[in-house]
Amino acid sequence: MNEPSAAASGVAVALLLCSDRAAAGVRDDATAELLAPVLAAAGHRLATTRVVADDRALIEAALRELAAAHAVVLTSGGTGIAARDVTVEATRAVIERELPGIGEAMRARSLLVTPMAMLSRATAGTLRGALIINLPGSPRGAVECLEVVRPVLTHAVRLLADAVRDCQAEVGVRAPKDQSR
Ligand code: MTE
Repeated sequence: MNEPSAAASGVAVALLLCSDRAAAGVRDDATAELLAPVLAAAGHRLATTRVVADDRALIEAALRELAAAHAVVLTSGGTGIAARDVTVEATRAVIERELPGIGEAMRARSLLVTPMAMLSRATAGTLRGALIINLPGSPRGAVECLEVVRPVLTHAVRLLADAVRDCQAEVGVRAPKDQSR
């Protein structure tokens, strides 16, 4: 699949770091620093970074606010099974439509790197015109998972903006007879 020209349709991305320790200033989080160049290489822009404690109500409120002003909202952290991991619940509470394939793809690819990927419940979904995607809390894991979704970001955002007239033509999907090549 070709990646639709990102330069022509770069989007504003928000990052919501969900972490008690980062919110309390106990831990410096390298995630934004690592994700920004990955987004920039795809023609997108990390416009906003916000830190919030592992609190479902706070995460839900932040997601709604960020989704109103950004095409893509990435979360990092809180996707696991510790008592305070509530990012997935907060995401499911605010999204209108779930995109389970994104979480499945991130886990499938991440399993090649670490069996711990099985412990992430990360998901994704849409909220009005915005795409919300959960990434794991480890900065390296967040980058690995962003790399997985990077090829579909532009097309997904364009679909949500109702800007795609011909899906096949835009993403360069080959006709069935050509797929053996
Ligand atoms: N996925 C990738 N690609 N790389 C990682 O390092 N860490 C795993 C998993 N997914 C990891 C990963 C670990 S150790 C955990 S516990 C879960 O994500 C949940 O992490 P979170 O609660 O910080 O989101």
